[in-house]
Amino acid sequence: MDLTIRGLSKSFAGTTALHPADLTIRQGKFTTLLGPSGCGKTTLLRMVAGLETPDEGSIAIGEERLYDRDARRNVPAEKRGLGMVFQDFALWPHMTVFENVAFGLRTGRRTQDLQSTVMQALAKVRLENMAQRYPHQLSGGQQQRVAFARAVVTSPRLVLFDEPLSALDASLREEMRVEMLSLVRDLGLTALYVTHDQVEAMSMSDEIIVMQAGRVLQTGTPEQIYNRPDDAFVARFIGRSNWLNPGEDERAQGVLPMFRPEHLRWEPVNGAACRTYDVEVLQSSYMGDRYEIHMQAEGQRERWTAYHHSRIPSGSRMNVHLPLQRIHRLSTKL
Ligand SMILES: Nc1ncnc2c1ncn2[C@@H]1O[C@H](COP(=O)(O)OP(=O)(O)O)[C@@H](O)[C@H]1O
Ligand SMILES: [Mg+2]
Repeated sequence: MDLTIRGLSKSFAGTTALHPADLTIRQGKFTTLLGPSGCGKTTLLRMVAGLETPDEGSIAIGEERLYDRDARRNVPAEKRGLGMVFQDFALWPHMTVFENVAFGLRTGRRTQDLQSTVMQALAKVRLENMAQRYPHQLSGGQQQRVAFARAVVTSPRLVLFDEPLSALDASLREEMRVEMLSLVRDLGLTALYVTHDQVEAMSMSDEIIVMQAGRVLQTGTPEQIYNRPDDAFVARFIGRSNWLNPGEDERAQGVLPMFRPEHLRWEPVNGAACRTYDVEVLQSSYMGDRYEIHMQAEGQRERWTAYHHSRIPSGSRMNVHLPLQRIHRLSTKL
């Protein structure tokens, strides 16, 4: 069953954390709330969890209302059937790994087969040998796996993740990204995942909800968001973007023309109408698999980036070619 959010909003003493939002989180899918710090992601997640009371609107799973202001309905957090994984893991330091995972089952009085249910959850995250350890005896990655096991041991119908990888260092974060996604898939979970990291969002999600300043700007698959951003902020926030001077028509329409770095060509393109620009190369940055070439095009206000297989000396002047069909014209909603 899908999670349906209608007209949900929340303010804190004058700050609007979330303007009225309508969202559908589809069952069995991995959905990510993506946006910069302070845009309202955690507030939205906590309202779904029942840890924060909305000002207006409703939250439902299928036909079951979890929150409905007009109907004065507000199901308490522990009765919503959800699992939650936090950024700081939030494990009980005085409890063993086993007891941390068992906690939700005990408080929910679901202690039948407790031993085997907990051990199965620990086996899924490959920690069955560490059941008797305490959290401080585990690495950050292992602690996060305990937090994951604890969230899924109650067989929740939806698992909420709030920046679960951001406390880990970069290489571990990448490893855990792959591991966490395959766990979510193997267990057939529905995930609602919060992050400010666009790479995390792009690589893990079936669906991304891009937020800025308490508003939803765009919803779509990673491919849709990247290839067809429908807002200038979305294009800037996800992937690299190069901005062209707007023409008179574009200025009148209030749109900004933009293209992605990989679409700038070093040779004319046969059969595709192109614009050609005279550019000066400012710098080549080696990225291992390619060079990022930073350049200034004659008469253009913004600097651009493009990709090349070899270094180009700074100060080189050359022509570059941009297929017209690669130019997106974007408005700004905010
Ligand atoms: N308990 C609170 N009291 C006051 N303001 C809050 C509270 N929680 C969040 N906010 C404010 O609401 C906005 C959104 O915060 P948050 O949902 O935490 O954003 P994000 O998770 O995207 O970083 C911010 O301006 C934040 O300062
Ligand atoms: Mg947050």
